[in-house]
Formats: sequence, C-alpha cells, structure tokens
Amino acid sequence: MQLEDLNALAEKEHATRKKTCLRTCMSAGCLSSQSDKLKKNLDAAVTAAGLTKDVEVRRVGCMGFCGQGPLVAVDQPDGHSKLYEHLTPDDATKLVGEIQGQPSGLPFGDEKHPFFARQMRIVRANGGVIDPERIEAYIEAGGYRALLQVLTENTPAGVVEAITKSGLRGRGGAGYPTGLKWATVARAAGPKKYVVCNGDEGDPGAFMDRSILESDPHLVLEGMAIAAYATGADQGFLYVRAEYPLAISRLNLAIKQAKAIGILGANIFETPFSFNVEVRIGAGAFVCGEETALMASIEGKRGQPRPRPPFPAESGLWGKPTLLNNVETFANIVPIIQRGAEWYASIGTEKSKGTKVFALTGKVKNNGLIEVPMGITLREIVEELGGGAPDGHEIKAVQTGGPSGGCIPQQHLDTPVDYDSLGQLGSIMGSGGMVVMDDTTNMVEIARFYMEFCRDESCGKCIPCRAGTVQMHQLLNKIIERRATAEDLKQLEELCDMVRQTSLCGLGQTAPNPVLSTLRFFRHEYEELLQPETAPHAPHSNHS
Ligand SMILES: Cc1cc2nc3c(=O)[nH]c(=O)nc-3n(C[C@H](O)[C@H](O)[C@H](O)COP(=O)(O)O)c2cc1C
Ligand code: SF4
Ligand code: FES
Repeated sequence: MQLEDLNALAEKEHATRKKTCLRTCMSAGCLSSQSDKLKKNLDAAVTAAGLTKDVEVRRVGCMGFCGQGPLVAVDQPDGHSKLYEHLTPDDATKLVGEIQGQPSGLPFGDEKHPFFARQMRIVRANGGVIDPERIEAYIEAGGYRALLQVLTENTPAGVVEAITKSGLRGRGGAGYPTGLKWATVARAAGPKKYVVCNGDEGDPGAFMDRSILESDPHLVLEGMAIAAYATGADQGFLYVRAEYPLAISRLNLAIKQAKAIGILGANIFETPFSFNVEVRIGAGAFVCGEETALMASIEGKRGQPRPRPPFPAESGLWGKPTLLNNVETFANIVPIIQRGAEWYASIGTEKSKGTKVFALTGKVKNNGLIEVPMGITLREIVEELGGGAPDGHEIKAVQTGGPSGGCIPQQHLDTPVDYDSLGQLGSIMGSGGMVVMDDTTNMVEIARFYMEFCRDESCGKCIPCRAGTVQMHQLLNKIIERRATAEDLKQLEELCDMVRQTSLCGLGQTAPNPVLSTLRFFRHEYEELLQPETAPHAPHSNHS
C-alpha cells in the first residue's frame, strides 16, 4: 500500500456518492431507539420509490445530538443539510416522500442550531458523517495519510516533538502532557514496548470515548500506530469495557480491514515499521480504568492498582515500557500531524490546548455529545449549547470530572473550561462527564450518589478507601436522614482529608472531592439537615 493506492481507494469510494444522502445514526444511543430498523425501512423506501440511483442511505456514527435521536441528516443536492429528529422506523416512507418534495410534517432542525454552531469538531469531525464500518470511507475522508507521512517523512523524535509542541494533554482525566509521556517511553531502553489505549470509560453518564470508538474507530487506530512509531513499540492493546459491544465489534472490524490492506501488521506501507493491535475486553470495574489496574487486567491478573513508581512508561505491561493514553488523546494525534502542531496550539488557552469532548447531560434542554474549544466558559456550554435548564428552572451547579470531580456553582459559570481553572474551583476537567443540576437538586444527595459509586467500585486493596468510603457514605446517609450532629459533619470532613491523603490510587484519593466541593459551595445545605445542637449545660426539663 502506497499513497497512490490510498488515493485510488478514496476515488473509488467517492465515485459511489449520490446526489442526496440520508445519513442515519447507528451509534448506541440511536440504535437503542431502533435506528437499525429505521435504516432498513429507509433502504426499502428508497428502492420502492425508484430512487437508488440518486439517493444513498448511509450508516453513520454519533452526530452528538443523542437526546433528539434517532437522527437522520439529509444532505441535499444544493449542499444544505436538514436534520430530522425523534424519528421512528415508520417515518421512513414519509421521509423519502419529503426528499421528493412531499411535505411530511416530520420534525427537523439544521446544523445552525446553537447546539452545533458553537462546537469545534476536530476529533469528532467524522462522527455522524462517515460510515464507521468502511475503511474506504475513512480513507476517502483523508484517513491514514498522517501515518504514511510520519513513516516516510518523519523521524520518531520528530513526531514526539510535534506532539510536545502541540501542547496536547491527556484526555483521560489528569491532563498529563502527552508529548512528555511519549518522550519518556521513547527514551526507555529495550527492544519490546507496548502502546495501550484506555477505553474503560467508567464515569457515570460519560460516553465520549464510546462514541469516538463507535463513530470513527480508524482514527484511534491511526493515532495508536503513530504513537507506536514515535515510541518504538510494535504491539498495541485497546482496552474496552464489555458494556460497549458495538465499539468492540467496530474496532475488531477496523483492525481486520486495516490488516487486509497492509496498514496494520508487518511492514506497514512497505516500510520497516510493524504494528499489531488487539482488543482486550474489560469486565466493567471502574478501577480498571486506572492505568496500573488496567495493565494487570490485560495481563490476566486481578484488576487492582499497584503503587507507582515504577510508572508504565518505564515498567508497564509484562515489565516493559508502555505508553498508555486515553481514547480521545489518541484521536487528537491525526489532526495534529495533518494540520500541524502550531495550528493545534493556537486553539484553546495558554496551558490547555485544543478541544475537549463532553457528554452534556442532566437538567439541560439539549443533551448530547459536544466538542468545544478549551477556554469556552461553562455558561456558554450550559446556556448556549445546552439551552439552559428546562421547564423554567434555574441552573444551580455543573458537575465535572465524575466521581473524582466536583460541583461548580452557578456564580462561577463564567469560569473558562481549562485544566487549571476547574482545578482552582475544587473540580477537575476529568474525562468529559458534565452533569447539569437545576434548582431542584439537593447537593448533599449528589455527594452521596458519587460516594456510593466509589464505595461500590473500591477494589478493597487499601484500608483508607475500602473502609473510608463506607464510613463517609454512612455519614452522608445520617445527614440526609436528619440524624446527624455538627460532630458528624466534622468527622466527615476529617475522613475526607484522611482518605484523600492515604489511599493508594486515584479512586480513593479523589473519592472525597464531590463531598468537599459541595461543602465548599453549598455548606448550608448540609447544616440545614443537622440536628439542632444540644447546648452542653442546658437545663433538663422535668416531665415527672
Ligand atoms: C479510578 C480511576 C479510573 C480511571 N478511569 C479512566 C478511564 O476510564 N479512561 C481513561 O482514559 N483514564 C482513566 N483513568 C486515568 C488513567 O489512570 C490514566 O491516567 C489515563 O488513561 C492516561 O491517559 P491520558 O494521559 O491520555 O489521559 C482513571 C484513573 C483512576 C484513578
Ligand atoms: S484507593 Fe481504593 S480503589 Fe484504589 S487501590 Fe485502594 S482500595 Fe483499591
Ligand atoms: S447516538 Fe445518535 S446522535 Fe448520538
């Protein structure tokens, strides 16, 4: 496979395009409301109307507006697109009638909707556009040129330098500089190294990585292959939770397709570089997203964290240097190589470059997946893209970072979304969960929800987390049930401090965050639930 072959494949794919295209979302969200049946019916309706020459019904990945699904975007011959929402399989004939000029009354919007207009789609550029099950579609969209370019024109050190210059930071939560991590693995000695993609995605409400894997699997594979070349690895693993069967099957298909045309495997693009990738399925434990637990799980051991150092970059899978990055981190690599580190570094803020994908959920009118430039404010996200709280309610807080994050109150909504600003408010960027809360939300209950999650997901290896999350959860219950005193609240705060400082891994170290951040901004909600204090020398009443 050479550049001419890639171009020939792209041209052949392009020749199959038709005047009108009905892009039908077949990602998990829309599939759960029967978009597969809808696609089947659309195919049948197009055939019945004798339109197969001019109309294509295309399977695509997630368009982001999942709350409005099932979605079909109709690309018209004049270049305009109309987005049909909340469709059912029975709407197929009406929709095909509509493209023939018969008004159907079906609900539609367009891509000027604020939900789309404020987005900047870099890693999700192909999401909802190309067929994720066809490597030809990815190649037609420019795919695998970045890998070819680095293999034939760049040195591994040059690639590491480009990623460093771009300012990309890990999207898995902690925001560690990606270039620095790659440089450490590249420097590590030894002939055998691994590249691992973390697709465990366990935060409640998060589905960014699932959507990327389902909608554009080759983008992640290409990013991993570039990382392998840059760091000197020849074997990769994609760790995906078993709850993501569609992502797993599309990844396996993508790997098979790439191997079949010499883009994965031995001597890729007829160069000395070889790289193989395998999918490993996780059983759904949140802690297996922690990098050392994840590697233990790949090795077939119990998925429990171990102390660091040594870090995976020095001693990872089977004791070998291992580069481990998140799905979205790998999805940023191809655009950086294609469009340049300077271009990438020009997007975002001084210390947080590029875009971030968020799963916008909770008490907000427009739910779904968004990709926004770093530095956009929380207010712009929840009020403009999200459309504000429904039913005339006010937004009270925004939770970012899942069980490791915190709740940012309404008065701080003008905070820019970047690693440092969110950190200063006691939250974290996290992997991209963003849950909006309105004025009906009880913040102590929110804290209890996340603590219950951490208690259930604690692996039990170390005592502060194993016992501390149970005790903190019990204290939160006591407060919510109005049985607690000021002394209990003090004990809760002390426990938060102790668990944070003494737990072995990030799960325990960050489990107190939702309590601490709600205490910081909504302390009165805790205090209102406490028993009235018994004065030490209050006179006893005599009922005898
Ligand atoms: C309890 C726990 C769960 C985690 N879950 C994930 C996850 O699902 N996906 C992920 O990419 N990182 C997760 N992480 C962070 C990883 O340990 C690691 O830092 C990350 O995958 C590195 O990739 P990045 O540098 O590209 O962000 C988790 C960390 C902890 C402590
Ligand atoms: S902090 Fe919790 S999850 Fe992490 S090792 Fe200790 S018990 Fe396990
Ligand atoms: S799953 Fe269909 S738009 Fe997201």
